[in-house]
Amino acid sequence: MLLFLMLAGCGQRGELQATGPVPIPKENPQTPEKIELGRILFFDRRLSGDGTMSCATCHVPEMGFSDNQALSLAYPTTKSWRNTQTLVNIAFAKALFHDGRVSSLEEQAGHPVLSPFEMNRNLDYVEEVLRSVPEYVSLFRKTFGNDDISKEQMALALAAFQRTLVSRNAPLDKFLNGDKGALSADAQKGLAIFQGKGRCIECHHGVNLSDNRFYALNVPENPRFVDDPRVAATRRFVAKINGYKKFKTLDVDPGRYLVTKDKKDWRAFRTPTLRDIARHGPYMHNGIYATLEEVIDFFDRGGGEKNGVLQPLGLSPEEKRQLKAFMTDALTGDEIIVRMPKLP
Ligand code: HEC
Ligand code: HEC
Repeated sequence: MLLFLMLAGCGQRGELQATGPVPIPKENPQTPEKIELGRILFFDRRLSGDGTMSCATCHVPEMGFSDNQALSLAYPTTKSWRNTQTLVNIAFAKALFHDGRVSSLEEQAGHPVLSPFEMNRNLDYVEEVLRSVPEYVSLFRKTFGNDDISKEQMALALAAFQRTLVSRNAPLDKFLNGDKGALSADAQKGLAIFQGKGRCIECHHGVNLSDNRFYALNVPENPRFVDDPRVAATRRFVAKINGYKKFKTLDVDPGRYLVTKDKKDWRAFRTPTLRDIARHGPYMHNGIYATLEEVIDFFDRGGGEKNGVLQPLGLSPEEKRQLKAFMTDALTGDEIIVRMPKLP
C-alpha cells in the first residue's frame, strides 16, 4: 500500500530500458589518456598506507568488480562492515555507496583512500608519492597539460576509468531492441514475473534496473557483527564520525539515516543495479545472502521484519526458478575485461 502511494507520489511507473549512451559530466570529459591513467591508478597499491591494497583488491574485475566476500575485504588488522559494491554500470548511478552519501564518482574517489578500514592513506601524501614517480609526472602532464598532480586530478582519472565499466549486449538489451528470441522461455516468464506478480520493476527499472531511491527492507543483520568485535568497532566508528550520539549501543546498520538524520531513512539502502548480478555475490548491503535463491525467498516473504514497504508475493517454486533465470540469463552482458596494466 505504502509503496503504491509513494509511486503515485513520484508519478511514474518504471520500465526497463536497453543500454544507451553513458552519461558523462561536462566537467570531466572522457579522453583516452585520462581513462588509461585512471586504470593505472585503480591497480596501484601506492594508494594505500602499507602498500597492500589497490581499488582492484576489493573491486576485482574477474569477480564482477566486487570481492566475493559477504563483508568487504579490509585494510590489514581492521574489518569492514559492508558488502563491496560492483562498479559495473556505476556511470548510471545517481547517488553512490549503499547509503547514497556521495553524489559523483569524482567526489567518491578520495573516500576509500582516506578510510582507516579501506586504504588508510592521507591524500596529500598520495599526491607527493605520485610526484616522486617520473612515469606518473609524465602521465599526468600528458592527461591534464600541467604539472599539478593533485588529488582532484587523481579523482577525475579514476572516475573516467570507472565510467568505461558498462554492461553491454545483455540478452535483455537485444530483447528490448526487438530480438524476441534473445530470451529463453524461462527468462521470458521470469521477466513477466519481474514486471507483474513479483513487482520488482517498481524499484528495479531503467537502464540500470535501479530507481536510485532508498528503502528500508529490514534485511536481517549479519551475525558477524556479534561474532567479531572488530566489525562492530567499524560500525560504531562510522556512526560516531557521522554524528550519531548513541553509537556505543548501536546494534544495526542505520543506513541512509546517518546521511540525512531523517527517521524514514533508518536502515534504508539504495536500490542496487541488477546488471551482471550473476557475476557477483553475496548480496545486500551486508552480504547476508549468498545466493539469488535466498534473495528471491526474502522478497517472496515480503522482506524483513516489520518493514512498511514490501508484501508477501506467494511465488511458486516454478515462478522463483523463472525469476532467477531472468536475472542470471537476461541481465548478464559481455564480460568486461580489464587487465592489470604495467605499473610505473
Ligand atoms: C577494502 C576494500 C575496498 C577498496 C580498497 C576500495 N573499495 Fe570501493 N567499495 C568498497 C565497499 C565496501 C563499498 C561500499 C561502502 C559503503 O557503502 O559504505 C565500496 C563502494 C564503492 C563505490 C560506490 C559504488 C556504488 O554502487 O555506489 C565506488 C564508486 C568505489 N567503491 C570505487 C572505489 C575506488 C575508485 C577505489 C580505489 C581508490 C576503491 N573503491 C577501493 C570496498 C573497497
Ligand atoms: C521497494 C523497492 C524494491 C522492490 C519492490 C524490490 N527490490 Fe530488490 N532491492 C531493493 C533494495 C533497496 C535493495 C538493497 C537492500 C540492501 O542492500 O539491504 C535490493 C536488493 C536486491 C538484490 C541484491 C542486489 C545486490 O547486488 O546485492 C536483488 C538480486 C534484488 N533486489 C532483486 C529483486 C527482485 C527479484 C525483486 C522482485 C521479487 C525485487 N528486488 C524487488 C529494492 C527493491
